[in-house]
Amino acid sequence: MRVFLLTGAGISADSGLDTYRDAGGLWEGRSFEEVATPEAWREAPESVWRFYQARRAQLAEVEPNAAHAALARLEREGAALGVEVTLVTQNVDSLHQRAGSAPLAMHGELELLRCERCGVAVRDRESLEPARFVACAACGHGRLRPGVVWFGEVPLHLPVIERALARCTHFLCIGTSGAVHPAAGFLAYARAAGAHTWVQALAPPDNLHPADRFVQGRAVEAVPGLVDELLSEARASGSVSS
Ligand code: APR
Repeated sequence: MRVFLLTGAGISADSGLDTYRDAGGLWEGRSFEEVATPEAWREAPESVWRFYQARRAQLAEVEPNAAHAALARLEREGAALGVEVTLVTQNVDSLHQRAGSAPLAMHGELELLRCERCGVAVRDRESLEPARFVACAACGHGRLRPGVVWFGEVPLHLPVIERALARCTHFLCIGTSGAVHPAAGFLAYARAAGAHTWVQALAPPDNLHPADRFVQGRAVEAVPGLVDELLSEARASGSVSS
């Protein structure tokens, strides 16, 4: 069994972080072009920095929840059963990492800051002042940028992701609206490749298809049960590569 997991903001909603497109979400009343593009960073770095510093500061106040923990359990217990698990997240909150997973964070991480001049990236949880930029310790450049992937930039890890997608037998996406490409296309890709496709979210996402199994509800309530099902199936099949 080869399981591909794709997570979005919905899995972290139960930890207290806003999603992007639900009512009251991060983009509501604000255009993402104002804060989440390279152009915005060039033209108004102070306001972009303030936005990301607020989100970076919020990370100290939240914890991974039962859904993050369940996926980490799937990786751990699945490994003992020969299940291959690929966890890809669009989230930049590092909550999977704190729950014990090592996801492919395709949109980067808020904890990372990166130098546009020399390319060095640093993990920084301390510099949280809204109005003070962080200089690059490696080359002296005065302003590190947030280590996230903005609109108009290429997501990370795409070659590895594509290989795992083409091979997966089970595809489960959790808490993502299916509105942002390329991640929004992964569900159709896995379906076409013959995988069982399961979709978990509060509301049916834009890219849901009748062939997908839709599990509606909060991730903290639904995901532990889905993980149990996958592990039972793996135990019953007893096969590594079926
Ligand atoms: N449990 C499960 N699903 C939930 C919950 C919850 N408690 N709360 C909300 N959801 C679902 C919603 O039904 C919706 O499908 O999570 C999804 C959130 O969608 P978005 O806000 O669009 O978040 P996401 O899909 O992760 O956004 C993708 O867009 O702006 C960019 O880069 C940003 O990575 C982000 C990308």
